[in-house]
Amino acid sequence: MPALLQTDLSPLQPIARGKVRDLYEAGEDKLLFIATDRISAFDHVLGSGIPDKGRILTQTSLFWFDFLKPLIANHVLSSNVAEFPANLQQHADQLRGRSMLVRKATMFPVECVARGYLSGSGWKDYQQTGRVCGIALPSGLKESDRLPKPIFTPAAKNNIGHDENIGFDAVIKTIGDENAENLRSLTMQIYAKASAYAESKGLILADTKFEFGTIVTSEGATQILLADEVLTPDSSRYWPAATYNPGGAQPSFDKQYVRDYLEEIRWNKQAPAPALPQNVIERTREKYLEAYRLLTGNHDLPA
Ligand SMILES: Nc1ncnc2c1ncn2[C@@H]1O[C@H](COP(=O)(O)OP(=O)(O)OP(=O)(O)O)[C@@H](O)[C@H]1O
Ligand SMILES: [Mg+2]
Repeated sequence: MPALLQTDLSPLQPIARGKVRDLYEAGEDKLLFIATDRISAFDHVLGSGIPDKGRILTQTSLFWFDFLKPLIANHVLSSNVAEFPANLQQHADQLRGRSMLVRKATMFPVECVARGYLSGSGWKDYQQTGRVCGIALPSGLKESDRLPKPIFTPAAKNNIGHDENIGFDAVIKTIGDENAENLRSLTMQIYAKASAYAESKGLILADTKFEFGTIVTSEGATQILLADEVLTPDSSRYWPAATYNPGGAQPSFDKQYVRDYLEEIRWNKQAPAPALPQNVIERTREKYLEAYRLLTGNHDLPA
């Protein structure tokens, strides 16, 4: 199947299109998340999609939501299109395997990042200040080093451009003491469980980002849910354990061919982003599939 770059569920209009997902309202208290095959690099959506990428991301998220259920409730209501509202049935071909009907939650405006290794913006902050999000770290760490213990490095959701790393005190200011403690604790528990599992499958989970929201239950209680996508290659940094070699950047598990190509053609990283050659598309698709296979143990995507 060719890559799905954009959904068209007319007469329904999306309420948002992210870099990868298209988001629709699905009744008062539900949302429809559809992962397209768009791919981004250096903060731009590229001119080509990766066939099946959206299905791989959705199935990877579903695997993890289920895996983490003993630890935390999540926003997924169904991924079975036959159970979706009647007005979506005519669009089943665009939805199957790549969509989730979720509970609409009140989102905390905090990206809950856990890091077990020093990389990306964490490495940048450390080089400048010896700290990441205000957390002091031992001196002399190298890029991609494993941290003495995993840390919580929240970021403020920033609609324009990059999310901004913030200290825990700023999180408390935004969402209060109790919520801040809860999100930090949940983030670190999930990271511990997920990174141990990933490692048993030959993958290092260097860092990852979670988003949480709240709903009010039928009994009137406020409940925290794990929302958005979870532990996909798009929200996480996975490295093959076999080639892990601190002291420099590690090759990206999924996007390395894309990044290499974009560097090779010396793209200036300004819009419009270029399209990708067929071999880069195919090799990248294989990497997404490989991550999915390693993590879930499934060889094929569901039909
Ligand atoms: N259960 C939920 N209820 C309400 N909002 C949610 C829920 N789960 C996730 N969200 C929000 O839906 C939005 C999904 O947008 P999406 O991630 O596709 O694009 P984006 O965050 O704007 O950009 P990017 O592509 O860079 O991630 C996010 O703002 C996220 O916080
Ligand atoms: Mg997002």
